[in-house]
Amino acid sequence: MKNIVILISGRGSNMEAMIAARDAGTLPVHIAAVISNRPDAKGLETAARAGITTHYVDHKAFPSREAFDGALAECIDGFAPDLVVLAGFMRILTEGFVRHYEGRLLNIHPSLLPSFPGLHTHQRALDEGVRIHGCTVHFVTPALDHGPVVIQAAVPVLDGDDEDALAARVLRQEHRIYPQAVRWFAEDRLSLVDGKVRLAAELRDDSVLIAPEVR
Ligand code: GAR
Repeated sequence: MKNIVILISGRGSNMEAMIAARDAGTLPVHIAAVISNRPDAKGLETAARAGITTHYVDHKAFPSREAFDGALAECIDGFAPDLVVLAGFMRILTEGFVRHYEGRLLNIHPSLLPSFPGLHTHQRALDEGVRIHGCTVHFVTPALDHGPVVIQAAVPVLDGDDEDALAARVLRQEHRIYPQAVRWFAEDRLSLVDGKVRLAAELRDDSVLIAPEVR
């Protein structure tokens, strides 16, 4: 069974979705540790209650991004992960860190990338008046919220939506597609080859998910 390490910065609901999938028997991984850059991240408590080893590496204690990323990598590598899962990990990572985990570093982002990288994706989608929004799981490259796409889920933007309503609709889909992507990796049906996603042929149709609200 593959070893994964999950990195969080806050609430940790995507992490919870992975724990739930693991417990339900649909995600065959060993969650070796959950690590946060914030000592007070709520998700650390949730992980500890689930019996998972937790750590924090406080970015504020380091003089530079390089120093922080070095300490973080040392902590992660202590668990010998096959895959590192960024689940609401809100730090810009150095190129050295990203290269070190090339092909075994996944991220989820709350937009249909390459639209709306960065913060406040839902409000920006509303401001732009897009009719379709969503979320993306991708392999990580040194550019922020960028990289080969594994799976995307689309949701409609409905009349009367505010940021919270849209965020909640997207989050429901995040909780579906992220455990799915990690499961594919765990089953050796997903990999990164020459910078491109290689997905088992039978999964191609499953890598786009349209929420039931979209007609
Ligand atoms: C999620 O919506 C995730 O997509 C987003 O942070 C949230 C974390 O929620 N990540 C990013 O914006 C990465 N650029 P969670 O802590 O409840 O999983």
